[in-house]
Amino acid sequence: MRVEVLPVEKWAGTVAAEFEDRLGPGLRLCLATGATPIPVYSLLASDALASSTVFLLDEFGGLPPGHPGRCETMLRSALLDRVPAREFHFPVVDATDLEIECRRYRDLIDDGGLDLAVLGLGMNGHLGLNEPGSGAQQPTRVVELTPETRDGARRYGANPPPNWGLAMGLVEILAAREVWLLVTGPTKAEVLDGVVNGPVTEQLPASLLRGHPNAVIWADEEAGSLM
Ligand code: F6R
Repeated sequence: MRVEVLPVEKWAGTVAAEFEDRLGPGLRLCLATGATPIPVYSLLASDALASSTVFLLDEFGGLPPGHPGRCETMLRSALLDRVPAREFHFPVVDATDLEIECRRYRDLIDDGGLDLAVLGLGMNGHLGLNEPGSGAQQPTRVVELTPETRDGARRYGANPPPNWGLAMGLVEILAAREVWLLVTGPTKAEVLDGVVNGPVTEQLPASLLRGHPNAVIWADEEAGSLM
């Protein structure tokens, strides 16, 4: 795993430039929402994703379509409305049969895999909505959210916060040819130190990235201050 720690003021520009470097015809991407990637997304050129397929990393359950706290809404307003992708796929949490929906989404991802997965780091070490205790073999599925993750959802305007979600599985994420973990701010310093220097454990799902052949952590100096 490569760890890049960048000055706060250079972080978004550097990550956005590296991201645009990766883009090419037919690239298949998984993109996270949340606060961390927004400064990067806001720097991308309007045609950056014109030939890419984007898969949404995860979605909260129980919020109505179009709710500002839904991951789909967040990704559209932070990125896709301004920078459209050739194709955009997302898990349909309103589906009547969620087991069938999880299989549909998993099959869609597996049919070509992911070239690059862009992830954020949860305060409890989650990746996507793969909460502590999620193993590397867990597929795309419905998950129950921990109190920390529900608190995170409150920050996105989901009040009351959802108690479940549909998570792209670690098996699909870890099969991506390249995985990026974006981490910023002092509140993530302790958990990031654990991801990089602590034991590799399902209790801290992001630590499983250390077994990935092509994983990069893009941290700013605040998040990287304890490593
Ligand atoms: C978002 C997601 C979450 C967030 C993580 C960090 O799609 O899957 O794993 O990436 O909770 O959230 P922020 O960036 O808001 O601190």
